[in-house]
Amino acid sequence: MAGMDAGFRIGYGEDAHRLAAGRPLVVGGVRIEGAERGAEAHSDGDVLLHALADALLAAFALGDIGKLFPPGEARTRDLDSTVILREVLGRLRSRAAGWRVVNVAAVVTLDAPRLGRHRERIEQRVAGLLGLPPGAVGVGFKTSEGLAPDHVQARVTLLMAQSGA
Ligand code: C5P
Ligand code: MG
Repeated sequence: MAGMDAGFRIGYGEDAHRLAAGRPLVVGGVRIEGAERGAEAHSDGDVLLHALADALLAAFALGDIGKLFPPGEARTRDLDSTVILREVLGRLRSRAAGWRVVNVAAVVTLDAPRLGRHRERIEQRVAGLLGLPPGAVGVGFKTSEGLAPDHVQARVTLLMAQSGA
């Protein structure tokens, strides 16, 4: 990308959705079976992939996913969020050619269910979507200590490096 000579860029993104009964709970492209509630959203409500997509765009000051996929549009209804991520990665290939993701560090805040036993599957799925090896994506889980029992939230940081850096 023109004018970016530092060799490294950081990205940060976050997302939150209200939890509702009868909705699937999808985190990092992994459907959490048995969850009583899932994200109330126009798309599949995958907070981790939404925060990740925003972090990638923010790293290059390319706006956010609301700019690419305006909420409320028919084509985004129940949209698989891996489609959003793929479109963002495509944009980066054209607007930030020669840059790669070094690693991703994320936190998902959710009171229930506990997600620890799904960690490996979520990390591997996100790494796979980014074309990264296992170990390049780390995801932590936190409760809100009961302060926000009706929402699920994700925060994502990542490091980008220019080829050769
Ligand atoms: O929020 P709190 O610090 O009490 O969470 C304790 C631990 O519970 C976390 O470090 C994490 O390992 C686990 N946890 C989880 N799934 C959640 C929330 C927390 O596995 N939804
Ligand atoms: Mg605690």
